[in-house]
Amino acid sequence: MPDRIVDPKLLLRSEVADMIPIKVGAKYNAFSEVKSRLNIEPLRMGANENPYGPSPLVVQAIQKKITEVHRYPDNTCYELSKKMAAFHGVEPGRLMFDCGSESIMAKLINYCIKPGDKILSFSPSFPFINIIGQAAGADLISLAHEDDLSFSVEKFCEALANGVRYVYLCMPNNPTGTYFLGPELEKIIAAAHPETLFILDEAYVEFAVNKSDYPDAIKILEAAQQPYISLRTMSKAYALAGMRIGYAITYCEEFTALLKPGPVFNVGLLTLEAAMAALEDTDHLERYINIVSSERTRIEKELKSKNIQFFNSAGNFVCLSLPTLEQAQVIETKMQSVGIFVKSQKGRNNEGVVRITIGRPEDNDKVLDNLTL
Ligand SMILES: Cc1ncc(COP(=O)(O)O)c(C=O)c1O
Repeated sequence: MPDRIVDPKLLLRSEVADMIPIKVGAKYNAFSEVKSRLNIEPLRMGANENPYGPSPLVVQAIQKKITEVHRYPDNTCYELSKKMAAFHGVEPGRLMFDCGSESIMAKLINYCIKPGDKILSFSPSFPFINIIGQAAGADLISLAHEDDLSFSVEKFCEALANGVRYVYLCMPNNPTGTYFLGPELEKIIAAAHPETLFILDEAYVEFAVNKSDYPDAIKILEAAQQPYISLRTMSKAYALAGMRIGYAITYCEEFTALLKPGPVFNVGLLTLEAAMAALEDTDHLERYINIVSSERTRIEKELKSKNIQFFNSAGNFVCLSLPTLEQAQVIETKMQSVGIFVKSQKGRNNEGVVRITIGRPEDNDKVLDNLTL
């Protein structure tokens, strides 16, 4: 053991050194603990994964390429870009791919966000924006929800008036699943500075198709000529969380091109094949989305009958609102004791929320049977 250990904080930028380390990620130790204690497969309903698994076309595509992993992948993602661009009706040059949409978000620290820049978002929302914002030395402004669990457009617009440089709009929002309606978005964009970048996190957008009032946010941003980056992932609806693939659609080819330089081989050879196969199997995708939609309605009805408050979710999860974080944590612990993993977290002020992934109908039955306040 050396007698002089350099304080690691001296090696980091002060913004990063001052950050409080947070626990993130799946609870792999706890999964195996539950498995051996209860002799059951744990129900993993804390990370919004697709419980049905990938399309059989994905499995075939991976198997077909498995002997080629000694070769580097196509770092331009040429074929995938073409297919994805056709799917979205945009030029391929406006797309970029990386190992998860979080990796693209992380690039915003190095390439865009400067110390003192203001970032406006919701509270609670996907915490990664706060992590990268803090690391970049940005000034984070979070808008809390109202008593009726909605987010106020007026307050969002007011907050925008104070020189906001980045708007992080997670739609559907993680963990609440909530969203702004089309006219509300138009109002927000109108209140923003024309150079404000909208970071639109659409990780769960595929699950909103059955919500008739869910807006096409990209279309609205384009009509307003507002700069944006829409972050998408294939981890959720496409069941590729373990393959690590996310992508972004930006408002113009030049912006995408400027963001692209960086590690060149971040999307693996098998991942590329898996993504293209997943994109092709529209039936597999649709079946899952429809189950999520009908189960969401069924779960919400049950929650109402149990007098449990919940947010209006368009995602593949429901989100309960609890008066305190401790109450939310008690639910998480109780669920875990019977082998069900859900996610409690801080809500507004001292309130708590519990986010529960919508699973297969039999999984959801088990959640509802065990859910008490
Ligand atoms: C809102 C939101 N954005 C981004 C991500 C990250 O997705 P990826 O797996 O592509 O990194 C998640 C994952 O849970 C998420 O909930």
